Amino acid sequence: MDNPTLNLIHAHGSVRRYKPDPVPASAIERIVAAAQRASTSSNMQIYSVIAVTDADKRNQLAELCGGQSQIREAPVFLAWCADRARLDQVCALRGYMQSSETLENFLVAAVDAAIAAQTAALAAESVGLGICYIGAIRNNSTEVIKLLELPKSVFPITGMTVGVPVQAPRIRPRLPQEAILHWESYNPDQDAALLSYDQTMIETGIYKDRQVPIPGKEGQTESYGWMEHTARRVSQKVRPEMRAIIEKQGYGLK
Ligand SMILES: Cc1cc2nc3c(=O)[nH]c(=O)nc-3n(C[C@H](O)[C@H](O)[C@H](O)COP(=O)(O)O)c2cc1C
Repeated sequence: MDNPTLNLIHAHGSVRRYKPDPVPASAIERIVAAAQRASTSSNMQIYSVIAVTDADKRNQLAELCGGQSQIREAPVFLAWCADRARLDQVCALRGYMQSSETLENFLVAAVDAAIAAQTAALAAESVGLGICYIGAIRNNSTEVIKLLELPKSVFPITGMTVGVPVQAPRIRPRLPQEAILHWESYNPDQDAALLSYDQTMIETGIYKDRQVPIPGKEGQTESYGWMEHTARRVSQKVRPEMRAIIEKQGYGLK
């Protein structure tokens, strides 16, 4: 099976170096129009996107997002937000009160924002632009909320740099499909797929042949691979303040 849409999807790679060429507002508008076509929970469209082109603001965002220079370089930064604020207006106009106490309400909005973001990513890539998601937008959520003047019930889920790539992106292999696609019921037996993917990723050279200790084998080392990379990441407690900030921004998480 082969067609231009599938080819585009399979050509994805995150872009972290951008040419200074501007991306016109009309291109951003077309990309967001495509994002707006994405499926959305009950057609409620519970998300917004803030397009930041101002260089000073992008510099500030770069600082708030772990000093990532791609945010300074890319002419556009998109902040994809869960947004129930306009639903307060809808409820007020119709004489209702929005219920915002449960985690489900936040999840629905966050999923809407993520689906729209990915649709925009593909739209941007389809016109030759590059993108990179910026989850680090949640490193300093309170400051980002202040900088982008986000009202209550608008919470930044992910950022995204957009611009003309300096070079075609590297394509990172993905897990063998048997680890991801389960037919009829979940198959927990994934060791072979994980070991094989670890080796595939080592062979790409992405990890520069670093050596790490083998767990349980004193004095022995092996190549740093995807499993070591991933295990290190998920063993850290990341952004423990997130719940409090989301609640402060107007979302109950019960
Ligand atoms: C929600 C999300 C947040 C991400 N945050 C960052 C980020 O802050 N900085 C970055 O350089 N890449 C970020 N990425 C990009 C991932 O690192 C990248 O998609 C992954 O390594 C796979 O590589 P590929 O997109 O080139 O295939 C993020 C991706 C996602 C989906």
